[in-house]
Amino acid sequence: MATIGIFDSGAGGLSVFREIFRILPGENYIYWSDNAFCPYGDKPREFIVDRARTITDFMLENGADIIVVACNTATAAAINVLRAEYPVKFIGMEPAVKPAAAITRTGVVGVLATAGTLAGQKYHLALSRLAPGVKVVEHVGRGFVELVESGVTSGPQAEAVVSASLQPLLDAGADVIVLGCTHYPFLSDVIKKIAGQGVTVIDPAPAVARHLAEVMQEEGLHSSGEGLPANVRLFSSGSPETLQKLFKSLTE
Ligand code: DGL
Repeated sequence: MATIGIFDSGAGGLSVFREIFRILPGENYIYWSDNAFCPYGDKPREFIVDRARTITDFMLENGADIIVVACNTATAAAINVLRAEYPVKFIGMEPAVKPAAAITRTGVVGVLATAGTLAGQKYHLALSRLAPGVKVVEHVGRGFVELVESGVTSGPQAEAVVSASLQPLLDAGADVIVLGCTHYPFLSDVIKKIAGQGVTVIDPAPAVARHLAEVMQEEGLHSSGEGLPANVRLFSSGSPETLQKLFKSLTE
């Protein structure tokens, strides 16, 4: 059995854990919610790099064999530094603009993400590789992370907050919306309700989970523990309440 470390600025990375656990149920997991320092979205790059190092040290001390940076903002800010400094494999989040561009009918793709992710090199590289003819419009999901961290994932307050950032993308003609932050899938029912039926919402987590499984196979970390109950250890730098509540909702 391998130990997979997963971290995010908060409970959002559980949307990635959920997809990983679906295909790798026989592994051990360590999940770190860095909610004492959440949100990461507007924080300086160096700050996020420092947090990522601290969390990586903790993960390695606790036996992680591979680490998933289940946070688009931390991937953008820190994954290159982590890969250069640590002798362990890191799997990061990829902005899913390419699969979105492949299915748009209007030719307009909408991206919701944090300011840090939208300013990052990885995102701009992904945009530069798109075929010409697809227009990408972006918006920061203002207040989305705070909603999820306070345990609010539906209802009028969530709808008002989501609508303020999503509507401009819909008004621009987007028929595909990429969720570029791992907290946002917890709001996907609200997002889908506001966007309506003709709009496809893309969560990159299943693709990240498949990539992790491939890398584990290559690294010889493939599970021998199939069928055993997984050991999931949850840690948080702040209050554990939301993390436990969302984790419970995933496993019920
Ligand atoms: N879950 C995050 C992401 O994927 C972090 C959001 C934040 O802390 O601002 O970007």
